[in-house]
Amino acid sequence: ETQIFHDVEPLRKYRRELLLSKRTVGLVPTMGALHEGHLSLVRQAAAENSHVFVSVYVNPTQFGLNEDLASYPKTWEADMAMLSALDKELASTGAGRISAVFAPSTKTMYPTMPPDSSIPGAGSFVEMRPLGQLLEGASRPVFFRGVATVCMKLFNICAPDSVYFGQKDIQQTVVIKRLVKDFHLDTEVRIGPTQRADDGLALSSRNVYLGSRRRLIGLVLSQSLRKAEAQYKAGKRKRGDILWPANAHADSVVLEQDALEPGQRARFVVDYLSLADPETMEELEEVDEIRGAILSGAVKM
Ligand code: PAJ
Repeated sequence: ETQIFHDVEPLRKYRRELLLSKRTVGLVPTMGALHEGHLSLVRQAAAENSHVFVSVYVNPTQFGLNEDLASYPKTWEADMAMLSALDKELASTGAGRISAVFAPSTKTMYPTMPPDSSIPGAGSFVEMRPLGQLLEGASRPVFFRGVATVCMKLFNICAPDSVYFGQKDIQQTVVIKRLVKDFHLDTEVRIGPTQRADDGLALSSRNVYLGSRRRLIGLVLSQSLRKAEAQYKAGKRKRGDILWPANAHADSVVLEQDALEPGQRARFVVDYLSLADPETMEELEEVDEIRGAILSGAVKM
């Protein structure tokens, strides 16, 4: 039976009991609105730990002023039903179990933050520079500061042996690895593969915002990244050689859209297609095979 915790102290007490009986805890941080991407991380955590903690918390500090904090999907009942179905499945396989869901309030997570942050920038934060300002951080300046801060809190509260993050948000995984390394956090960072719909679109809680037209256009991202990946697999190592077919594909979709009647267009721009260093996210001119590289991108609609 999965226990639901809203407060820090009862969860800490439970965690201490598990520690004494030498159980291992894998933590899967989420903002709820769960889908198969989240569940795949829970499955991985259950395969590697006796106990899985899932946190469900829509963290306000990672949302910009013009972002979707107020409208972020909230599906608590469905989330709990999904976790309980998955826990039943895990029970029959001998894997670890989902033993705790942590669903704190903002008062609990940010105990000293004034509710109407009257002083701009007031509060306690963890920040990585320049890592947190690059790529996704360029369009969303407070995003990675909010993510690093809330994850630091969650790790301190749950004391997980391992934490599980999805490759879909790859810069987030780089930020979390940096957090663990620079602050000597005693946890292992595990990364799970991106779960996609049949057409290639990555599963995301925010996909509910896409109408059918924009959902179709969203495929340009996975298609472009696949083209770049194919270049690497064909032996290309230089930035230009790897990225040009990706850029060419994205450009061709922009042109196709421009040719449509205005009412049928899904206006979008490529925010970035990036070939970056796996630890710093700085852009690379050439890939070193030993060090590897991260291909990522974003389109805005
Ligand atoms: P959220 O968007 O709910 O995602 C929670 C975790 O699920 C993240 O590690 C994310 O990378 C992973 N995930 C989402 N979609 C996925 C997919 N299609 N395949 C595999 N993994 C997927 O990311 C956040 O929440 C927040 O920033 C959080 C880390 C919880 C901090 O607030």
